[in-house]
Amino acid sequence: MSQDSCYLDSEADAFYERNLRDLDPTTLRPAKRQIAEWIESAGVRPKRVLEYGCSHGDLLRHYAAAGADSAHGVEPSESAVERGRAAHGDAVKLWRGTLADNPVNADPGSRGRFDLVVVEDVLCWVSRETLFQSIANIDGALAPDGYLFLREFLPRENTRNRNHHVVGKEVYCYKPAGPHARIFTASGAYRRVAERVWLDESDDWVTEAGRNRFESRWCDSLLQKSSLSWSRER
Ligand SMILES: C[S@@+](CC[C@H](N)C(=O)[O-])C[C@H]1O[C@@H](n2cnc3c(N)ncnc32)[C@H](O)[C@@H]1O
Repeated sequence: MSQDSCYLDSEADAFYERNLRDLDPTTLRPAKRQIAEWIESAGVRPKRVLEYGCSHGDLLRHYAAAGADSAHGVEPSESAVERGRAAHGDAVKLWRGTLADNPVNADPGSRGRFDLVVVEDVLCWVSRETLFQSIANIDGALAPDGYLFLREFLPRENTRNRNHHVVGKEVYCYKPAGPHARIFTASGAYRRVAERVWLDESDDWVTEAGRNRFESRWCDSLLQKSSLSWSRER
């Protein structure tokens, strides 16, 4: 069974129950607020937002309230999607699925539609078998000149950590030293607008003796899908 199927079948719901069930979907989480502020500080005020792995959609609600015309989210957890739908009504459209396989990308009308796509701590959980389909879906949904926010781990070397909550199956958090953002910029079709690197000091397993602190180093990237990324033309 692929890692994506494992999330769809059970682990996404289990994650939601373990970590987010007690939160109110109408309240913007502090981490999401910080992301929204960082994106805004780059002058990005989106009208059509798509978030993959959006949980119960609090960030999308924030963008809808801030004046976005449409706010769509994709999330494998049925519990998160149901709670979000009940809390946000028509302001936010939540869809159950994965980055690689979801109703938004299946709709031809979504192609090139969104001027901001957010993917916060999700790419590391995607099956390596569907990683490039997932990347193609992000690119396919993003409008020309649209912005892509990625939050992801930034270890010193390619590292994968086993998800010990999933017993009897090989499910990993994949942390390429690349990081994934470089897949976009290496294509020449994206330019880097802003980047920040930070260490999660609150992560106690990293401060345990013997652990490599670089495994909890993070990178936020704001990229723009841009024809201007070519500095030379001959
Ligand atoms: C560690 S959480 C990161 C925080 C999350 N972005 C949020 O808003 O709460 C990972 C999220 O990605 C979702 N997820 C896992 N695999 C996914 C996939 N293949 N496609 C889309 N979302 C996925 C999980 O269900 C979970 O909500």
